Amino acid sequence: MVEYSAPAEPSGGGGDGAPRWSSGPARLLSDIATDEDTVFATGIGELDRVMGGGLVPGSVTLMGGEPGIGKSTIILQLASSMARLGKTVLYVSAEESAGQLRNRAERLGMVSDSVYIQAETALPEIMTEVERLKPDLLLIDSIQTVSLPSVGSVPGSLVQVRECAQALVASAKHHRMATILVGHVTKEGNLAGPRTLEHLVDTVLSFEGDRNQGLRFLRAAKNRFGSTLEPGVLEMTGDGLVPVEDPSGLFLADRRPGSPGSVVVPVVEGHRPMLVELQALVVPTTQGNPRRSVGGVDSQRLALLLAVLERRASLAVLRNEVYVSLVGGIKIREPGVDLGIALAVASATTDLPVPDDMVACGEIGLAGEIRQVGQLDRRLEEAARLGYRRALVPASVGECSADIDLIRVSSLHRAISVAGLLSRSGAPDLHLTAVQDDVAPVSLLEPSQLDEGGDGFVDAFS
Ligand code: TYD
Ligand code: MG
Repeated sequence: MVEYSAPAEPSGGGGDGAPRWSSGPARLLSDIATDEDTVFATGIGELDRVMGGGLVPGSVTLMGGEPGIGKSTIILQLASSMARLGKTVLYVSAEESAGQLRNRAERLGMVSDSVYIQAETALPEIMTEVERLKPDLLLIDSIQTVSLPSVGSVPGSLVQVRECAQALVASAKHHRMATILVGHVTKEGNLAGPRTLEHLVDTVLSFEGDRNQGLRFLRAAKNRFGSTLEPGVLEMTGDGLVPVEDPSGLFLADRRPGSPGSVVVPVVEGHRPMLVELQALVVPTTQGNPRRSVGGVDSQRLALLLAVLERRASLAVLRNEVYVSLVGGIKIREPGVDLGIALAVASATTDLPVPDDMVACGEIGLAGEIRQVGQLDRRLEEAARLGYRRALVPASVGECSADIDLIRVSSLHRAISVAGLLSRSGAPDLHLTAVQDDVAPVSLLEPSQLDEGGDGFVDAFS
């Protein structure tokens, strides 16, 4: 329970706490003009992509992200880009001094005449400047550090953040001014303080990535003006954030061909295909409760896939430590990476590499069957574009427009053998001839490649 005194004067909000803004008496839907043509592109392509074309006047966007991810950087770049397009921008910094901002802007080479900077934490002062300047775009950095003195509660508290956000939403609608609120996110990924903000605003963007690496993803968790599917990919450089035109190329740049435990997987985020590299490491252990560690993929999903590998593909993995990582600091939650994860683990277990020209996509069911994934054509076209020649796909897949050879597999069992991950000294029942799929065997192993055992990867097959 948080105690606070009610604002003496409603802060842009009604007594019931709802922001007060109105378009007058009710009108027929068909009589109301559309707002469609008023979306304005920001000049930052990746941001426009995520927001469904650009900013909408009167819209409120919440941009969340961990400290240091680059929120202040991107909105400063946005401010200067909008100013160049002839818009008036008010950047309110409630964390950094005006001088600090000026330093940063100079470093980024973007000191602009029509960006107003206000270093201020008191919302009433900010509102005064909004009235005076009538900006097209208001940037608040951050919502957790501004406050309404009339609300007797500390900045960043649930009550303060909600009251301030409500006042800002009302003001955005009233002035038809696009507003972006920066919000800090806790380690658990929640917006510090209120998730309650999410329903107040029109768009929720999350800025993700590994702080220690350059790559950043901008995703829309909610968007009243467009799809929430399309992610933006940016890279933090010495000159600020720059768009990444070819994420696949970037993810695969440092890939070492021929490494066991590495699999290339085509994923689609929104409509955007990307090739990513999955890596696995499997280490025998004597501990009763072997360690599992994941980066970028779901740990529950890994547990499930290990169980399927053990029971349906006769690969003894459950007694080993298993590490799985998606290279590049990104997170993928779609089931299309299942087959890639399972093959990476299988490859790490047998210490045999998946062929260099092969990608894999498919969801894996509990019976070890390989299931279809969405937008396969897009995925495979991207794989073909980057020079991959063969793709392991679910058996039920039909024709595909991409210039790539399809290897249809119905089971995980079969996929592992087709990818050349069985040592001949392994279980004879898994030998290629025993499998009925009408596909030519690929990549039969040279005897020299075989794991003779004794190097720690013994007992791969029960
Ligand atoms: P910042 O935008 O301040 O993060 P946030 O507002 O989300 O807390 O960016 C922080 C990091 O970005 C900082 O550690 C330095 C780095 N950075 C660059 O690498 N290049 C740049 O041009 C800028 C401005 C920042
Ligand atoms: Mg900041």
